[in-house]
Amino acid sequence: MGKRSLAALAATLITAASLAGCAGDDAGGGSGGGDGKLVLGFSQVGAESGWRTANTKSIQDSAAASGVDLKFVDAQGKQENQIKAIRSFITQRVDVIAFSPVVESGWDTVLKEAKDADIPVILTDRAIDSPDTSLYKTFIGSDFVLEGKKAGEWLVKEYEGRNDPVNIVELQGTPGAAPANDRKAGFADVIKADPKFKVVASQTGQFTRTDGKQVMETFLKSQPKIDVLYAHNDDMGLGAIEAIEAAGKKPGTDIKIITVDAVKDGMTALSQGKINYIVECSPLLGPQLMDLAKKVNDGEQVEQRVLTEETTFTPEQAKQVLPERKY
Ligand code: AHR
Repeated sequence: MGKRSLAALAATLITAASLAGCAGDDAGGGSGGGDGKLVLGFSQVGAESGWRTANTKSIQDSAAASGVDLKFVDAQGKQENQIKAIRSFITQRVDVIAFSPVVESGWDTVLKEAKDADIPVILTDRAIDSPDTSLYKTFIGSDFVLEGKKAGEWLVKEYEGRNDPVNIVELQGTPGAAPANDRKAGFADVIKADPKFKVVASQTGQFTRTDGKQVMETFLKSQPKIDVLYAHNDDMGLGAIEAIEAAGKKPGTDIKIITVDAVKDGMTALSQGKINYIVECSPLLGPQLMDLAKKVNDGEQVEQRVLTEETTFTPEQAKQVLPERKY
C-alpha cells in the first residue's frame, strides 16, 4: 500500500471494513494490498482485435513483472460492464483504477464515485469526453487524430499530380469510441483539401475481422468503383482483404489499402503488398501504466497526458521489422 492509501486509511477505515464484506464479484475478491502489493483494478474493452490481445498481454505481463496485484476484468465491448467493474473496484477499495473506455461519453457519474472514494483513476489507450479533468489523474495513449492525419497524408502523396476522382471506402471502428471518432476526423481533415478524394461509403466494422469482411462485401456490391480502402484498424482491413479476394480483385493493387495498428498479421499483409500503408498504434502500454499507477498511488504529480511514441510503415519497412515484431 502506498503513501496516498495510508493517508486515506484512517478516514475510510469504517467504510472500508463494511464494504469489504460485500466485495468479491466479477473482479475477484479482496484488496487494499494486504501483502504490501499495489492493487490495480483494470477494466479492459474486450478482445476485439489483435491490438487488444497484445495490449492485454502487455498489461498482465507488466503487472507480474513489477509486483502489482492486477484485478483484470474484460468488459466484452460493453460500457455497462465497465461501469459495473469500476463500481466493484471501488467497493473492494483497490489502490488505483485504470480502464480503457469502450466509448467516449457517459463516465462522469461513476468517475465521481471513484473520486469521492479517493481512488485515483488512470485512463489508458482511449480518452473520455468529460470536461472535468479532475476525474482522472492521467491519460496514457496514442494521438488518434494524428493517426488519421498520417493515413490521409500518405494518400495525398500517393495520388499527387493526378486529377481523376479517387473513390474511398472507410471501415470505422466501434461507434462512439475515441479511435473511431478521431481517426475519421483526422483523415477527413487532410483529404478535404483536394476535391478529387471522395469518401463514397463509410460504415462501422466494429474493429473486428468478421465485421470488416462483411461490410467490405456490401461495399463491393454497392459501389461501382472503389480505389481505396481506409480501415481504422488492421483486423478490419484483414477481413476486407478476404472479401476483396473473394470478389476476384487484388488487394493492394486493384484497391489500395491503408490501416492503423501494425500488429503482426497486418504487417505480414503489408510485407506481401496486400496492404499499402500502416499507421502504427502501439498496444505496449503496460510498463508505463504500472509506473504511473505506482506514482499516483504514492501521491506523486504525473503529467495529465502521456503520449505514446509511434511511427508508420511501408511494405519495405514492414519486411525489415517483421522478424523482430513481438505482437
Ligand atoms: O483503442 C485502440 C484500438 O482499439 C485499436 O486500434 C483497435 O485495433 C482496437 O480494437
